[in-house]
Amino acid sequence: MRPKILISNYLLDDAVKLARSRAEVDYHVGEDPLPRAELIARLKDKDGLVCQINDVVDDEVLGSAPRLQIVANVAVGYNNIDLAAARRRGIVVTNTPDVLTDTTADFAWALLMATARRVVEGDRFVRAGKWHKWEFMRLLGGDVYGKTLGVIGFGRIGRAVARRGLGFGMRVLYHDTVPAEPAVERELNATYADKATLLRESDFVTLHCLLTPETRHLIDAAALRAMKNTAYLINAARGPIVDEAALVQALAGRWIAGAGLDVFEEEPKVHPGLLSLDNVVLAPHIGSASEGTRLKMATLAVNNCLAVLEGQPPLTPVTQ
Ligand code: GLV
Repeated sequence: MRPKILISNYLLDDAVKLARSRAEVDYHVGEDPLPRAELIARLKDKDGLVCQINDVVDDEVLGSAPRLQIVANVAVGYNNIDLAAARRRGIVVTNTPDVLTDTTADFAWALLMATARRVVEGDRFVRAGKWHKWEFMRLLGGDVYGKTLGVIGFGRIGRAVARRGLGFGMRVLYHDTVPAEPAVERELNATYADKATLLRESDFVTLHCLLTPETRHLIDAAALRAMKNTAYLINAARGPIVDEAALVQALAGRWIAGAGLDVFEEEPKVHPGLLSLDNVVLAPHIGSASEGTRLKMATLAVNNCLAVLEGQPPLTPVTQ
């Protein structure tokens, strides 16, 4: 008998076809994620779930699916899934690392550049018909080249961002729970720093850690106060790593020069204080959103799901 899979959100056709070629697929293609009650109801007879970060897969959801063997998240982050509950129930959880590393690093870099060089403000200025003459002092930003880049979370994406900094002649500081191997430090010209030193010395602080109880509000009012008032904060990781209310205060009060945000504390809500500020660039969580990468993510998630349901080891299990 073919295994039964729920694909709970829109996925690219090729990935859905792949799933259909080896499983019976219940596919939710609506604009919005499945309401919780419907997710629970449709999961009851399923062996596998291919889900996305807007699906909250907690103990109750997992407990209502007695046949479930695998939850394949179409994302590298997995804070939407209760890992401990999955482990207790013997359910495998997988994510989509590697395939999105460079695309996400590119986007973090785009945010960094746009924020420092005021690209979005410039665009708004031109569109508003306010550009009447070239002005020496119009939209002066901060330089990127030769500055200090502080990377918090020195995993795959953090390192890929650091690699981009090399091309800009930047000094790289990084902070993580464990220092990287010396060969990586040498290759990326990166130096381990404690959080306080990194915040104090960096011109750009860019976040690439997982969201865990330890990293929730890692960037709070005290951290923002510790940064240079000429520095920029970039977050393309998870919103709750930053205390958004404190960030609004920091941006409005010019404790820091600016911020570039792809993620928010309560997506898709954005703190209203951010919307009226010019020194922040806002994006709707599109870090990994390139056509090629989204197809790779979708395919990897489906392959993870099929592998487990066919008795094979998952390709990219979450091992934490
Ligand atoms: C997106 O946010 C991801 O975790 O892949």
